[in-house]
Formats: sequence, structure tokens, C-alpha cells
Amino acid sequence: MTILVTGGLGFIGTNFILGHLASGGDRVVNLDLATYAGNLGNLSHLPAESHLFVRGDVCDADLAARILKEHRPRAVVHLAAESHVDRSIAGPAAFIQTNVVGTFALLEAARAYWDGLGAAEKDSFRFLYVSTDEVYGSLGPDEAPFTEDSPCAPNSPYSASKASGDHLARAYYRTYGFPSLVTHCSNNYGPYQFPEKFIPLMIINAMDERPLPVYGDGRQVRDWIHVEDHARALSLVLDKGAPGETYNAGGRAELVNLEVLERICSILDRLSPRKGGSQHLDLAVHVTDRPGHDRRYAVDCGKIERELGFRPAYAFPDGLESTVEWYRVNRGWVESVTSGEYRDWMRSHYGQEG
Ligand code: NAD
Ligand code: DAU
Repeated sequence: MTILVTGGLGFIGTNFILGHLASGGDRVVNLDLATYAGNLGNLSHLPAESHLFVRGDVCDADLAARILKEHRPRAVVHLAAESHVDRSIAGPAAFIQTNVVGTFALLEAARAYWDGLGAAEKDSFRFLYVSTDEVYGSLGPDEAPFTEDSPCAPNSPYSASKASGDHLARAYYRTYGFPSLVTHCSNNYGPYQFPEKFIPLMIINAMDERPLPVYGDGRQVRDWIHVEDHARALSLVLDKGAPGETYNAGGRAELVNLEVLERICSILDRLSPRKGGSQHLDLAVHVTDRPGHDRRYAVDCGKIERELGFRPAYAFPDGLESTVEWYRVNRGWVESVTSGEYRDWMRSHYGQEG
């Protein structure tokens, strides 16, 4: 048996594929454009019989059709996306192209393939669209966490483009009976995350004695889930979720950004103290806030816990400690992904070298 994963060279895709194969999962065909965020080195150690990488664009419906016809997967896990909110503000076009047009192209190719399957294969086929809690917009400090019934109210070009995918996946189920499922996960952290995102950016900048750029007052709240827990949630939804349904997933770890930064800095103070006795947190600087910055995300995971038995395995302090350690040990990986493109982004966005 085979599954088709898109975006498998990225942060969550890499962790999903490694977890899937480690738990005896079926062969993976990985369709990825290998943008700045994708790194083939993450998976190059996998044997060809368990992982086949195909370089290509999810917007290319003909390519997707050919892959589906040749490899006959039992499921598609659609992770490929432009995923960084700040980049979506600086240049939304790529987000509309990959996240909206690409999701539509992949859905069309998958629907045609599914239409041609025999009854049993058709019945068991699944298309999992990996979305985000950001589609629900922003919460006030005392509001209840997002449920699957919360209104869709995206605030950034990124979240609006992801919400478009939600709507398409839902419409394909309602209109064609196509077996799509949607997940809305909170902020992931862990190994292999590209260092443009908050946690790895802060770890790397702190280790390199560079400024730690805190947007606005730093009092924004995110719910953090370890990426391996998210990967397990995706496998559960794939195996046990009901077509047409939506599942929220989160880590039950709501934290203010400044608190996350303080924790990172205190781990580094212990593991690799700065010269002269100063603390890593002294590198923090408040910078101009992100336009339209969502103040708070929190997800109610009651449905996935009740219906599919999901429980996050990581407590945030342990997961953060092992993540900091991973970035300390894997300096070679960091060097390999912080290319000229990364340095261009750091310069244009923060006015600093990467
Ligand atoms: P990422 O940016 O690390 O990886 C994205 C991958 O998609 C990269 O390998 C990239 O090369 C590939 N890609 C981009 N455009 C492509 C295209 N046109 N065709 C084929 N491949 C393409 O992202 P991530 O953090 O791993 O997120 C994966 C998915 O999970 C995304 O859909 C994202 O919206 C969703 N998600 C992320 C988080 C999070 O906290 N990171 C939380 C919830 C949901
Ligand atoms: O909630 C799920 C989403 O989480 C995913 O869908 C996105 O793909 C993922 O990027 C993430 O979005 P955020 O915008 O929440 O993540 P980011 O790591 O960019 O920022 C986390 C918080 O930290 C946010 O409040 C902005 C703040 N921040 C971020 C950066 C990069 C800073 O204060 N300084 C920074 O330099």
C-alpha cells in the first residue's frame, strides 16, 4: 500500500513521514516543490522502497494525475503550502497560488482518480487536508477556545488562503461525496522547523548572540503542540476519522510569547552560558508589530480526544528542552537551510543578517 504526501520535505511533512514509517506505515510518495522551506536532506537516509521523492508543484494537476495513476495511493495527506504569516504579508501571491490554486488542482486530480476506483478502494480512500487554527481568527483573553463550529474568520493572507482550502475540501465532500477530512492544528514546534518561525528563530539567534525580535508587546498567546504529537493526530484522523469531518488538534499549552522566549533563554543559559555572565534574554528587543497580528489562539481538542482517542504525549517544558537541544546539536542542518534566500529574508524583514 502507498500514501501520497505533499509537502513532505517541510517541517511537519518530514516529521509525519518519519513517524509514519517508524510505526510500520505503508510506502510514501512525497510530492514537494523543494522551495526554500523544503529540505531533501531530512529524508535522504530513507530507503527507496519506503520513500519516493517526486519534485513537483501541487498546482500541476497533470503531474498529480500521473502520480496517482502510477502509484495508486490509498490516501493523500496534503501538507504542501506556503506557511509563514509574515511572508504572506510581504507577498501574498505565492500563498494564493500554492494554497488555493494548488489545493484545488490536487483535489481535482484526486477526485478524478477516486472516481475511477473500484467500490472497496473507493470506500476506503481518504484525502486529508492539513489546515490551521488560524482560520478561526483571533480570540479575546476570556473567550472559550475555538471548536470545530467556530466561525471561519481569517485575518492574514496566509490564513485566508488556508481557509479557502478548508472550504474546497468541505465542498468536495458535500457536492461529490469525495472523502475529504480537514484538521485545524495549533502552533507546532520541534525538530526540522525552518528558522523563520518563532521558536527556532529565537533559539538560533540566541545561540549566535543576535537580537531576539519580539513583535509589539510580546503578550500574544499561542497554543503549542510538539510536531510529533501533531503527526500522531494526523495518522489518527487518517485511520479513524469520518469523511466530511473536521478535527481540531492542539497541545493544551497556551503561552504568552514572552514566556516562551524566557523559557528558551533560561534553557540556553543553563546549557551554554554566555560569556561575561549576561543572560540570553538580554538580547530581546521589541520591534514593530506584525500588521493584523492575531492576539490569541487556543483550540478545544475535545472532539479528537473523545472520538479518536488523541492525547498529546509531550508536556511543553520537556518538548521545548529537547527542541533547544536538537538545534544545539544539529548546527549542520541549520547551516544547510539558512541559505542566501534565508539571509535575504532576514535582511528585508528584520534588517539583519541571517
Ligand atoms: P513548511 O513551510 O515547513 O513546509 C511546506 C512544504 O511544502 C515545503 O517542503 C515546501 O517545499 C512545500 N511546498 C511549498 N509550495 C509547494 C508547491 N507549490 N508544491 C509542492 N510543494 C510545495 O510548512 P509546515 O510548517 O511543515 O506546514 C505544513 C502544513 O501544515 C501547511 O499546510 C500548514 O499550513 C499546516 N500547519 C502548520 C502549522 C505549524 O505550526 N507549522 C500548524 C497547523 C497547520
Ligand atoms: O497556529 C498555527 C500556525 O502557527 C500555522 O498555521 C503557521 O503555519 C505557523 O507559522 C504558525 O503561525 P504563527 O504566526 O502563530 O507563528 P510564528 O512562529 O510566525 O509566530 C508565533 C508568534 O510569535 C506570533 O505571535 C508572532 C510572534 N513572533 C514571530 C516571529 C517570527 C515574534 O514576536 N517575532 C518573530 O520574529
